[in-house]
Amino acid sequence: MQRVLNDLLEGPTDELLNYRRDRGDPRLRSLIAKRAVHLGADADEQEVVITGASSGAISQLAYALVDPGDKVIVEELSYPGAVATLRQAGADVVSVQMDADGLDVVRLEAALVELDRQGTPPKALYTIANNHSPTTTNLAADRRRTLADLADRFQFIIIQDDTYGEFWYDGEPLGSLRRFDTERTVHIGSFSKTLAPALRLGWLVAPASLTDVIQRSRTDLGTSGLLQAVVASLMADGSFDSHLEQIIAFYKEKRDLVLSTLDEHCSEFARWETPPGGFFVWVVMDGVDLTDFERYAADEGVCVLLGSHFDVRGGSIPAFRLGFTELSEEHLVESAIRLGRALRRSGRTSP
Ligand SMILES: Cc1ncc(COP(=O)(O)O)c(C=O)c1O
Repeated sequence: MQRVLNDLLEGPTDELLNYRRDRGDPRLRSLIAKRAVHLGADADEQEVVITGASSGAISQLAYALVDPGDKVIVEELSYPGAVATLRQAGADVVSVQMDADGLDVVRLEAALVELDRQGTPPKALYTIANNHSPTTTNLAADRRRTLADLADRFQFIIIQDDTYGEFWYDGEPLGSLRRFDTERTVHIGSFSKTLAPALRLGWLVAPASLTDVIQRSRTDLGTSGLLQAVVASLMADGSFDSHLEQIIAFYKEKRDLVLSTLDEHCSEFARWETPPGGFFVWVVMDGVDLTDFERYAADEGVCVLLGSHFDVRGGSIPAFRLGFTELSEEHLVESAIRLGRALRRSGRTSP
């Protein structure tokens, strides 16, 4: 970053340091369009809008698409920031159940039929179809097709938040829902996890019919043109790809370490699936008193994000989301040991 920043500042800076009110740096947009094709999010440069990371994309979409009172569908456990933004824009958020294969499309269809019957069809559906936060599930292949068919039948926009969609440790990347529909699907990507959250840069690919209204929904005079040029240089010279390859290998090691440590210390009162990608393990507790667990984890000095934090309806969920990318290996192991102690102390069947 330092290298490309220096190079850029040695060249002409008038445009680089000025406002960037349009859809974003054309070079960056064209590089993203190429990358989006590789994710299966077929796009040309005109369909790419640079955003203030994925949260900025969500808020632009919320203000572009939602009128007060409009229904918007979300997964029952979701990213609280997105749900809050949608509600701030006036959405009446409706949640639909999930299972091990992601959003339950049979229940979704039932909800859509009911909303249609009431004369309040949804404007949009927000989904984290890949490496879901917090549950780490991935929407099954057949459900992706069904979702696109439902969007077409009930005329809503699919907003795919793919913030964790570049991080795959096992198996084939699942890519974009735009594979199944480019007319109704908006794909959101972010440079927060791939490069640095401090950049506050991300992008969305939207149907051409929506890009104007999305661009107009922005009122803050744009994201940094200088940082957009930095990211474009990193993508153009291959640094972005090699960096991503390195951090994916690094995070895979951490995932494997945390899984084996959880096996050793936490399996008596908790279970989890191996996440094929993303940043988290979703630990589901069995036979544990939740209030006690929270207290004992705090006594151990471990801060846990309980499932209730992600429950759109504010319920109590006997699970927590364990993030494994940020902590050092030493701290990951120590945290799992401490969580194991907190679990045993709060286990209802423990002595
Ligand atoms: C699912 C999801 N979407 C969006 C965001 C927002 O990230 P950013 O705005 O930094 O891209 C986060 C934050 O971690 C997230 O977990």
